[in-house]
Amino acid sequence: MLHTPFYDPEKSYEENFEQGPFGTFSDGQSVQSVQSVQSSTLHKYDFLGFKVNSPFGIPAGPLINGKFVQAAFDKGFDICVYKTVRSKKYPCHPWPNVLSVKIDGDLTLEKAKGKLIADRNYHEPLSITNSFGVPSFEPDFWQKDLAEAVKNAQPGQVVVGSFQGTKKEGQSVEDYINDYRITAKMLKDTGVKVVEVNLSCPNEGTNNLLCYDTKRSVLVARAIKEVIGKIPLIIKIAYFKDSEELSNLVKEIGNIVQGISAINTIPAEIVNEAGEQTLPGEGRSKSGVCGHAIKWAGLEMVRKLKKLREEFGYSYTIIGIGGVMNADDFFEYRKAGADAVMSATGAMWNLHLAKEIKSRL
Ligand SMILES: Cc1cc2nc3c(=O)[nH]c(=O)nc-3n(C[C@H](O)[C@H](O)[C@H](O)COP(=O)(O)O)c2cc1C
Repeated sequence: MLHTPFYDPEKSYEENFEQGPFGTFSDGQSVQSVQSVQSSTLHKYDFLGFKVNSPFGIPAGPLINGKFVQAAFDKGFDICVYKTVRSKKYPCHPWPNVLSVKIDGDLTLEKAKGKLIADRNYHEPLSITNSFGVPSFEPDFWQKDLAEAVKNAQPGQVVVGSFQGTKKEGQSVEDYINDYRITAKMLKDTGVKVVEVNLSCPNEGTNNLLCYDTKRSVLVARAIKEVIGKIPLIIKIAYFKDSEELSNLVKEIGNIVQGISAINTIPAEIVNEAGEQTLPGEGRSKSGVCGHAIKWAGLEMVRKLKKLREEFGYSYTIIGIGGVMNADDFFEYRKAGADAVMSATGAMWNLHLAKEIKSRL
């Protein structure tokens, strides 16, 4: 059953920011009682050196500010990623930013080459597209807000700070990498315990994703580690169709970072019933798809990351993401080798997902 989502796709990003979260995320009630029933699971799991009540949470994106993070903690999501931020204020794409996508079964790479019809009618099995452009407030705002969220975390809960670099016209590679350094320092100053860098963002000077450029990704990861020191670093990567490319990246970066999150969305052309572009504006004809239809891809990546970890003798933590819509999906990811699991789309429409998973842990 789909609940009232905690991020309302019918409202603008700004309205969500000001008025949200919605649904039962706004009732101010904490499910700590569930945790005391399940006291055997309290602080039982390790997440990058921190004790957590469950190896489950919400990945970068839907928790758009500290109020959203607090509500997610109250509802028992124990690992919460504060939305991806940048070194400077950055605008959000115009509304709509979320639409329901019609897909029969899995979103295979073959299907992702075609056009997908999207509308505002959300139903199960749920897949959506999200198109925000990774907006950011000024660091002055998000540093205070994130520091507050970190302070408010209860024992057994962890906030992860996510960020990415910003491409600018005429920028040198050095400037691009410096932007990561600067933002990593800003995050460190908030007292956040874990940092995640989104490598599934566009690379400087190319239209390709940064995670598909091993050399550059390694430079970025090294630069960040120099700044954050002992704070664990997670890289967030996209689906890799080429196993050898993934193996190359993991080989080079898997002993620099402490965690690998996979996957981000799978891009496809999004149209309305009439076959026309439905997300307004330049560069938005293609948009990332997430939810039910991408679970296969997340699971495949987790299995590969586990195998590669053994092959190279590394110890990175694997965070499985993509299409976790119910408790069964969580356990399927754990079985595939995920040390921790996260849900964005599933959690947005099932605000009791953490409670349901914990009752079976
Ligand atoms: C509303 C929304 C916003 C998102 N924003 C970001 C983001 O800013 N940074 C990021 O790394 N991933 C972002 N994502 C991607 C998710 O973290 C996740 O990788 C993806 O949605 C797949 O998980 P799911 O199938 O559980 O939704 C966003 C997803 C959603 C639904």
